[in-house]
Amino acid sequence: MEELITRAARDIVKAKRIVAITGAGMSVESGIATFRGQGGLWEKYDPEEYGHIYTLRTAPEKAWIMLREMEREIIKAKPNPGHHALADLEKMGYLSCIITQNVDGLHHEAGNREIIEFHGNMREVVCMQCGKRLKITEISIEDSPPRCTCKGAFKPDAVFFGEAIPPLALSRSQQESRSCGAMLVIGTSAVVTPAAYMPRIASSAGATLIEINPEETELTPLCNYLIKGPSGKILPLIVDKIKNDLANLSV
Ligand code: OAD
Repeated sequence: MEELITRAARDIVKAKRIVAITGAGMSVESGIATFRGQGGLWEKYDPEEYGHIYTLRTAPEKAWIMLREMEREIIKAKPNPGHHALADLEKMGYLSCIITQNVDGLHHEAGNREIIEFHGNMREVVCMQCGKRLKITEISIEDSPPRCTCKGAFKPDAVFFGEAIPPLALSRSQQESRSCGAMLVIGTSAVVTPAAYMPRIASSAGATLIEINPEETELTPLCNYLIKGPSGKILPLIVDKIKNDLANLSV
């Protein structure tokens, strides 16, 4: 493990321009459940049903059963040491941007500025009738469903199944992936496309792929190496290594 931390620190310093792609595992130490695997959200709710835009449009009270559960966790969550480590990496000038599949807004809260929210966010809602936009804390999520003053139902500003990825998020992610020297692949099962294509684009363009995850994923064979463990623990170790040992790492 110690060896891999040093290797990652060295690869980051060498690459200069790095990109991080993050998934639900990134926020586990902030108390937010992942989607897949044991205890994951999809064990309880069928995503094609509860997470589909059609359900939100035709039966918003049903979609909000799952959304309320997600929003409750998101509202109380705080960035964990992994988020803070990525904010440090950006301040130190190594991290060009984060492509996040997460909708919890925790990278913003940790202080990162260059963030592509690939699947939108759930910190804001938009009225599906009049387009009014509010912070999640400005509405009552316990209403079934939460409604605007115009009586339209609110939709979290996230990408639902059946919806397209925002075109700007997609094109900028592709461009960042093509031009980075290394990519950190953090806490994602890497099965949902097109987000899962980004590490593949980076790898084809010659970037070093460093995976951080307690488990192997479908992407592990493509990665240069996997640092097995929770990102809330591994990322601060890598950043500390860079901070404390920069002179030795850059030779
Ligand atoms: P998943 O739930 O598919 O995968 C979570 C990953 O996090 C798994 O590979 C876990 O092994 C890993 N993990 C668990 N604990 C961890 C920890 N402490 N530190 C680091 N990694 C940990 O979540 P995503 O890959 O993010 O889309 O899922 C992608 C998309 O699927 C989501 O954005 C969502 C869902 O459908 C939409 O909502 C559009």
